Amino acid sequence: MHVILLGAPGAGKGTQAALISQRLGLAHIASGDLFRQEQASGSELGKIAKSYMEKGLLVPDEVTVKMILGRITAPDCDKGILLDGFPRTLEQAKALDEALAKEGKGIDLVLYIKVSNEELLRRLSGRWICRDCQAPYNVVEMQPKVAGKCDQCGGELYQRADDTEETARKRLDVYFAQTMPLIEYYSKAGKLVGTDGEKGIEDVGEDLTTAIAAGIGR
Ligand code: AP5
Repeated sequence: MHVILLGAPGAGKGTQAALISQRLGLAHIASGDLFRQEQASGSELGKIAKSYMEKGLLVPDEVTVKMILGRITAPDCDKGILLDGFPRTLEQAKALDEALAKEGKGIDLVLYIKVSNEELLRRLSGRWICRDCQAPYNVVEMQPKVAGKCDQCGGELYQRADDTEETARKRLDVYFAQTMPLIEYYSKAGKLVGTDGEKGIEDVGEDLTTAIAAGIGR
């Protein structure tokens, strides 16, 4: 099964992808995490990505598409994939459709997590991330058991440089200008299912799991 999680920065894509991918045995592919891993390794790709990410801008399509199309052919993707943060432009969506079509595959479902701007900014400013496994925490709703340490791997928690209010606002502007057109694109294709992302984390997870189960059956 090939599923996309679509939503604004802070909508809860990473939080839900971690839960759902485990439950359904799908490979979780998060473009932002891949870029942050490249940065940590000091690669040329990481340096290019950093120059855009720190400004809240999208990394150019050709760079992003090449990275993701390479990743989705790895053996762990045979059972299916859960894409988080990709595609983010119409060009990326079309490139993905073309690449999958060549393999006789396609996107089965696009889960759109809807959250208000005010709530998005509140979540981003309270977010802490594990430096090692990238698990997200929040100072209000999802505190780690030990302050500053990841529950899952014990890694150090830190605040992302692009979660400052100024950069987060820029990321939201970019989302509305460049990613929102995907809602119409996937809606016209009959693949979009919207979910209320302002419910609690568990409830959103249940809604998404139900939508996926309905998608498997149709
Ligand atoms: P990326 O890392 O993908 O960031 P993003 O899309 O901006 O999404 P976030 O990770 O900020 O939010 P999320 O929806 O995963 O929310 P989370 O689960 O963490 O991208 C970063 C940058 O990389 C981009 O700006 C761009 O430069 C580049 N990039 C990445 N992909 C690209 C692409 N395809 N093309 C070009 N450039 C690309 O949750 C947020 C917080 O809220 C957490 O603290 C969490 O605990 C909390 N929370 C989650 N759910 C709930 C809930 N239901 N109730 C209360 N709190 C909740």
